[in-house]
Amino acid sequence: MKTIYILAVLLAFAASSLAVALAGGGGNFDYLSDADRKVFQERFAKEIWPLLERDGKNGCVGCHSGKGGSIVSALKMSGNAEKDFRMLVKDGFFIPDDPGSMHTRIISRNKKQMMPPPEKGKPWTKADAELLRKFVDDIEAKQQPKKK
Ligand code: HEC
Repeated sequence: MKTIYILAVLLAFAASSLAVALAGGGGNFDYLSDADRKVFQERFAKEIWPLLERDGKNGCVGCHSGKGGSIVSALKMSGNAEKDFRMLVKDGFFIPDDPGSMHTRIISRNKKQMMPPPEKGKPWTKADAELLRKFVDDIEAKQQPKKK
């Protein structure tokens, strides 16, 4: 039993490292038209950014921009809403149901996955998580067919 457990952990670790490698591999997940990107950027600043920024260094932006000390994560935020929005779209952090996406990590109840980390803050309310869910679904619906 124990060996199986260790194997499972190793496998999960290998898979997440691969996901990080892929996410950091210069992939581009931004297939929005310029007009749509502008609309979403404004919506992001109004609806989503305040949720990410709250709780200071124990919030998403605070911790992922290194304000509370440096952390090791592929998600590196700058603290500038406009810049971070573009990065989040481009690097695939809005992809619905992707294991490395923001929404997935926020609704996860797995202690090793959930964001904010359980010792750092309370999980988001259902209403807040659904607001983000709606936002990522709307982005997904506007993504143009891949050209490459
Ligand atoms: C106090 C620090 C801290 C806070 C607060 C925090 N995170 Fe994280 N986050 C981490 C660390 C460390 C990792 C890397 C380890 C891991 O994957 O769990 C991480 C990983 C992630 C990942 C996965 C990145 C990847 O490369 O796959 C996402 C997405 C994420 N966080 C989103 C969030 C969101 C959204 C919030 C706010 C709800 C948040 N984090 C709050 C520390 C934090």
